[in-house]
Amino acid sequence: MRAMQASQGFSVQGGSRGSGAMDLEAIRALVAEDMEAVNALIHERLRSHVVLINQLGGYIVNSGGKRLRPLLVLLSARACGYNGDRHRLLAAIVEFIHTATLLHDDVVDASELRRGQETANALWGNEASVLVGDFLYSRAFQMMVEVESMRVMEILADATNTIAEGEVLQLLNCHDADTTQARYMEVIRCKTAKLFEAAARLGAVLGGMPPEVEEALAAYGMHLGTAFQIVDDRLDYSASSEQMGKNLGDDLAEGKPTLPLIYAMEHGSEEQRVLIRQAIETGGLSAIDAVVEAIESTGAIAYTDAAARREAQWAMDRLASVPDSRYKEALRALARFSVERTY
Ligand code: IPE
Ligand code: IPE
Ligand code: MG
Ligand code: MG
Repeated sequence: MRAMQASQGFSVQGGSRGSGAMDLEAIRALVAEDMEAVNALIHERLRSHVVLINQLGGYIVNSGGKRLRPLLVLLSARACGYNGDRHRLLAAIVEFIHTATLLHDDVVDASELRRGQETANALWGNEASVLVGDFLYSRAFQMMVEVESMRVMEILADATNTIAEGEVLQLLNCHDADTTQARYMEVIRCKTAKLFEAAARLGAVLGGMPPEVEEALAAYGMHLGTAFQIVDDRLDYSASSEQMGKNLGDDLAEGKPTLPLIYAMEHGSEEQRVLIRQAIETGGLSAIDAVVEAIESTGAIAYTDAAARREAQWAMDRLASVPDSRYKEALRALARFSVERTY
């Protein structure tokens, strides 16, 4: 159902010169065969002789993730003229890393709902989620070795390390109402955008592109991932649980100073500022209605939206040096999807 909602009413505009509408389904259709192979790899490589890994791992990989990061690897590789099949393995690796971060993240955030169903930690407990997350990370590294490329190892090792730094930085910002926009941006670039960057860069590396094109695709991924997380943080206050498949207010409950809160504190009345400060410092959801009201009345949603759109535009601008193709159009459309999405 969520997939259907997302494909409605979204079209590519603004300088895409006659490309017409390309929604998420149309983007996926371009690499449908590759994606099917990636999904088969994901299932195959998840296997372990340890039953709990198969159960919990199977649960999370079958729960309806959007598979955006593997899609990015596939599109980027194709846009760079790559014709082999190693992009499929890399796409599966990137999704394993993403899935590991989600398992860990839901424990840290004490989240109970993901992808419209109970989180793994809610069903199996925190210990099992953390340990299966570790299994996925290490399985991803086993798969990386098979690629036999030090450059690929470097990109993925760096990205994984940066994600961990981002999560720890975020932990330090939690309950800190003095967190600035700059500190917030650093966290989201590390915890989320870095993996998008790696995914897009890997395509260029596989395609043997010159350094300037590799850097352009990497920057595209970084801006796309930044837009994606800004929107995620906005949706936490402005969507519905049914749309998002996650419980609203998870961020406030954990005292996470995300962009809507930071902006509302900067531009609200003294009363609103005190209210949000307290909500961040104490966490919990007792003040959620008043906080949402402050976010809306200060224009924080519109500001956050504009910040995401700006990042998405920068992402699209960086595609200029990539040769024109349907895959490049799909990369543009993915940037637009990241801000138009409702889930
Ligand atoms: C969720 O990412 C974590 C964030 C970086 C916000 P996605 O929204 O891509 O998660 P799935 O895989 O589609 O569920
Ligand atoms: C993204 O942050 C987490 C990772 C990059 C692992 P969030 O905590 O906002 O993600 P959701 O909302 O739980 O998916
Ligand atoms: Mg979370
Ligand atoms: Mg979130």
